[in-house]
Amino acid sequence: MHPDLESIMLSQETIGARVQELAARLDADYAGKTPLMVCILKGSVFFYTDLLRAMKEPVELDFMSISSYGASANTSGEVRLLKDLGCKIEGRDVVIVEDIVDSGYTLSYLKRLLHSRGPASVRICALLDKVSRRVVPLDVDYKGFDCADEFVVGYGLDYAERYRTLPYIGILKRSVYEK
Ligand code: IMP
Ligand code: MG
Repeated sequence: MHPDLESIMLSQETIGARVQELAARLDADYAGKTPLMVCILKGSVFFYTDLLRAMKEPVELDFMSISSYGASANTSGEVRLLKDLGCKIEGRDVVIVEDIVDSGYTLSYLKRLLHSRGPASVRICALLDKVSRRVVPLDVDYKGFDCADEFVVGYGLDYAERYRTLPYIGILKRSVYEK
């Protein structure tokens, strides 16, 4: 285990098994529809690539980048679009793939933005959900795991751009970010 971690919350095996289950649900729900799967950079990159390779139905890929915490462990409530989609989504079935939902600010902003472009549907697939931290109401249609109110890193999730490539998800020691 990485020395900056308190403990491992989700092992590589546990994550992998859940990703297979989510992929099977998406396959069943989007059979014959070729959904546009939108990766929210950078945190969901490993979740996204594992999820899409576990799906059997055809999908299309696109990427967006949204600013969130910067180098702090607390949300600002301010959302900024850094990179937009490369394609039109009018009439499309869109699935937003995100690493973690916390306050809900990021995804409620994004959902509103995408809805304004006339898609057939917009659903949210998130690996982790910190339900107890929600500030704005937001439903996660495809959820990997509920997450306690701890700062977690690994499998794409970072603290100040570190720890993203750990293959598991762990709880970061408070001493690392409470300085
Ligand atoms: P929200 O807008 O408050 O829902 O924040 C969601 C974003 O905050 C996520 O996409 C992450 O980038 C970041 N975030 C929230 N909690 C954590 C965490 O525990 N570890 C790493 N990033 C987090
Ligand atoms: Mg993120």
